[in-house]
Amino acid sequence: MRNIIIAVMAVTLLAFSGSAMAASGASIFKSKCSVCHGATAQGKPGMAPMLAGSDFIKGPAGAIKSTIMNGRSGAEKKYKKFPIAMPKLGIKAQDADELVKYLKSL
Ligand code: HEC
Repeated sequence: MRNIIIAVMAVTLLAFSGSAMAASGASIFKSKCSVCHGATAQGKPGMAPMLAGSDFIKGPAGAIKSTIMNGRSGAEKKYKKFPIAMPKLGIKAQDADELVKYLKSL
């Protein structure tokens, strides 16, 4: 009986940590990215491009990750219609991976 209780607790803990990990990309996006890219990554005119379903987000994860970690400014900038740069926000590699996963899921 005791072993069963311990097993049930372990499974419950795993289930919770799994959902917490899945949520983290969304919560980082909300706190660090949505101010420019919009709450649902739909983009904001004059601020930052749409990410949800965009060609860039459908592309290679490595390029997305490096943009998230390094930002994009100066000669690297791609869009004239968004005059500001994508800032370097100090996102850690692990958080960038979660953000890539989240953005690709939209
Ligand atoms: C201060 C506003 C701002 C914030 C905050 C911001 N971005 Fe950006 N982001 C931009 C701008 C502006 C661009 C377009 C840069 C360019 O012209 O290439 C951009 C570009 C991108 C791109 C490339 C899109 C493409 O089509 O090439 C990705 C991916 C991206 N941002 C993800 C994020 C993520 C994830 C966060 C949060 C960690 C974030 N951004 C936070 C302004 C912002």
